[in-house]
Order: sequence, then C-alpha cells, then structure tokens
Amino acid sequence: MSARKKASGAKARAGAKATRAAKTRAKTRSAAPHHHPQASLLDELVQRAKAVRDNAHAPYSRYRVGAAIATKSGRIFEGCNVENASFGATICAERGAILQMVAAGERDPIACAVVTGDDEGASPCGICRQVLSEFAKDMPVVLVGLGSRDGEIGHVVQLADLLPMAFDGSSLR
Ligand code: THU
Repeated sequence: MSARKKASGAKARAGAKATRAAKTRAKTRSAAPHHHPQASLLDELVQRAKAVRDNAHAPYSRYRVGAAIATKSGRIFEGCNVENASFGATICAERGAILQMVAAGERDPIACAVVTGDDEGASPCGICRQVLSEFAKDMPVVLVGLGSRDGEIGHVVQLADLLPMAFDGSSLR
C-alpha cells in the first residue's frame, strides 16, 4: 500500500463522523498541486458512479464497479462493469462510461469517479487507463471504496500519474 493511500485512510478514519461529501472534499483538497474541478462536481460524480454500480452485471466475480465521467460541456456519463460467460469479453465500468460519452458525441472528459466495494477504492485497470487517456491526457480520478467499516473512503489521483507515457497515437500519423 502506498504512503499516500495509508495517509488518506487514516485521515478518513479520524473523521469518522464527517459527512461523505466533506470527506471527499478533504481528499480533493489534498490532491494539490494539480488543478481539479470543483469538489462539488467530484461529489456528484461519486454519487452517480455509486448509483450506476447497482446495475453492474457481475455474476462471475461478484465484484461490482460503477464509473461516472464529467465532460467540459457539463454532462455526466455513467458505466458499470458488464461481465460475460466468456470472461475475456467482460467490459469494465470505466470503458462503459467512455463509450456512452463518445456515442453522445462528446470528446472532452474533465473528471472521473470509480466506485467499488473495496475498503479504499480500487485503481482502474491498465486497459481502462489507456482508453481514458485517449480522450484526456490528464484529469482527476476519484477512487471510492464502499466497504470500510468507517464508511466510504475515497482519494483523488491523476490520470497522468496512473498512466505515465500513455501510447498517444502520434506514431500512427
Ligand atoms: N473491473 C472494472 O470494471 N474496472 C476496473 O478498472 C477493474 C476491473 C471489473 C471487471 C470485472 O467485471 C470485475 O471488475 C473483476 O475484474
């Protein structure tokens, strides 16, 4: 576990009585020096990701994931994981949200939330990092876990930190 993750977990435990929104705000502030959207937007993304997670189709892993992506235009797109009996055909929540965004004619994500049942939130898989990077070189990604005894614990990471040196397609042009 990274020092950063440990620190954010301890902080959240210390403030067990704080509201979820306040906790997310505290984590968001600690994510400086990167520029990030308003904490209220990140809070809304977490709520939307949490709600869509209920629709996950995860009969094989029983591991449900919800994702929500905000775009520059102010819209929010959601996705949940959709598993398949042929396991390799499974689609992750983050990619589901990106597909919704692109199908709606949008191209500019500015923030993303991923909600899981873990204690402290899980980090997006490598394929999803690459797919998110296709549309945003960098953006805040809020990772929230619903599983802790102390309530929801989240922290904000940057996409550019999750996937440094993403393949950006410039070699194809
Ligand atoms: N999963 C996601 O939805 N997003 C990720 O970033 C990691 C994994 C899903 C895929 C599969 O349905 C389940 O979690 C277990 O791997």
